[in-house]
Amino acid sequence: MNPDDFVGSLPTLASGDYRLRWLSERDLPALRTIFGDPEVVRFMAIACLHTEDDAGAFLLSIQQGFLTGKLYQWGVEYQGLLIGTCTLAQIDRDNRRAEIGFALARRFQGRGLMLQALRLLLDFAFLQMQLHRIEADVDPRNQASLKLLEKLGFLREGVLRDRWLEPDGFQDSVMLALLQRDWHPGNRVQSKVLPGAVG
Ligand SMILES: CC(C)(COP(=O)(O)OP(=O)(O)OC[C@H]1O[C@@H](n2cnc3c(N)ncnc32)[C@H](O)[C@@H]1OP(=O)(O)O)[C@@H](O)C(=O)NCCC(=O)NCCS
Repeated sequence: MNPDDFVGSLPTLASGDYRLRWLSERDLPALRTIFGDPEVVRFMAIACLHTEDDAGAFLLSIQQGFLTGKLYQWGVEYQGLLIGTCTLAQIDRDNRRAEIGFALARRFQGRGLMLQALRLLLDFAFLQMQLHRIEADVDPRNQASLKLLEKLGFLREGVLRDRWLEPDGFQDSVMLALLQRDWHPGNRVQSKVLPGAVG
C-alpha cells in the first residue's frame, strides 16, 4: 500500500464489536487511564502518564509518528469504549517490516479482548500494507504478551540479552516474528476498512 492511500488519519478497521480507530483529543482521559497505570506500562518502553500534559504529549507523539509514516497507533474501541491501543512501530517500507505493540486498560485485561483486535491489525498489515514481517520485542516476564503472540502464530526467534536498562536493572528481550506467508485464513477476520476521521 502506498502511504498516501490514506491521508490525514489512519483508516478505521472494523469488525463486530471492535473498531481500531484514529486517536484524538477526546481520547486524552482514556489514554491517561490506560497508560497512567504502572502495571500497564511495566513491560513497555514508555513512561507512565502522570498528568493531562503527559497524555497530551503522548497523543502528539502518536500523531507526529503517523505523519512520518513510521508509527501507526490505533485506539482499540470495544462496544463503544476505548479500552487500549495497538501499534505498528518502526515501519520500514523498504524491507516491508514493522514492530507490533499493544496495551489494554487493566480492567479489560484477562478477557481475551486483545486477540481479536490484533487479528484486525495483522490483516491490515499483511493484506493491505503488504508487510512481509511483523516483529515483537517482549520482556520474558510478560507471559500474557508471549502467550497472545504465540496464539497468533508468532514464533520465538531468540533472546537478546540485557537489551533494556530498567529501574530494576538490565532486562532481556524475547524476539518473535510472524511472516506474511504464515498468516493463515483461520486467523483472519471479516473486517471493513473505512476512511479515518480526524477529531
Ligand atoms: C498483553 C495484553 C495486551 C494481553 O491482552 P489480554 O486480552 O489481556 O490477553 P488474554 O486475556 O488473551 O491473555 C493471554 C494469555 O495470557 C495468559 N495470561 C494472562 N496473564 C498472565 C500471567 N500473569 N501469567 C501467565 N499467563 C497469563 C492468559 O491466561 C491467556 O492465556 P490462555 O488464553 O491460554 O488462557 C495485556 O495483558 C496488557 O495490556 N498488558 C499490559 C501492556 C503490555 O504488556 N503490552 C505488551 C508489551 S510487549
